[in-house]
Amino acid sequence: MNIRIAPSILAADFAALGEAVAAAERGGADLIHVDVMDGHFVPNITIGPLVVRALRRVTTVPLFVHLMITDPDRYVEAFAEAGAAMLTVHVEAAPHLHRTLTFIRSLGVQPGVALNPATPVYVLEEVVPEIGHVLVMSVNPGFGGQAFIPRSESKVRAVRDLLDRAGSPAAIAIDGGIDRHTIPGVVAAGAEILVAGVAVFHTDDPAAATRSLKSLAMSQAHA
Ligand code: DX5
Ligand code: ZN
Repeated sequence: MNIRIAPSILAADFAALGEAVAAAERGGADLIHVDVMDGHFVPNITIGPLVVRALRRVTTVPLFVHLMITDPDRYVEAFAEAGAAMLTVHVEAAPHLHRTLTFIRSLGVQPGVALNPATPVYVLEEVVPEIGHVLVMSVNPGFGGQAFIPRSESKVRAVRDLLDRAGSPAAIAIDGGIDRHTIPGVVAAGAEILVAGVAVFHTDDPAAATRSLKSLAMSQAHA
């Protein structure tokens, strides 16, 4: 397993995003998770392509951009141009998922599919060859700092089974309530990309928090 840690800047100080990204990078972050919310698909509004472009200039860590927006097709090109390395769309917001994923890949960006907690795993079945990663939401999207939904662990297992049966090497990311308590279970279930907001940025030392969450996850992966 190739464990990667993706600090989510949603929990950082938005007046000092450059410093937050630098701290995550010092702590060995493999990806920077950027949460885009439109106040429509989810009940919160965050940032858009301009901020992604600004982050791209201040870090070499790949940007993992999570689109929690209605009609993502309208914006994927803008986020690709802004410098996203991975673009994740919600299946609940993408009625033409095959087209959306194919389009994202044609822009040279890794396409991914996010599943809300209430969304069943089988919706992935027909698009497995198009999927670069799957993002299992372990909270209802919209806010940081929510409690991990325990059933997400078995959901990660079910997604891994579905991908393996189809011969897909796509990695599973998990997002929401990820911390030192929930990491062992989700890594054992097959999650390889760990998104963590509060557990990294609501600490005195986000670099150290990044490093210690990653080493915990790696020790679990090799247990
Ligand atoms: C929630 C976002 C998450 C959020 C996770 O809608 O998708 O990426 O930042 O935050 P924590 O790790 O604090 O639960
Ligand atoms: Zn997210």
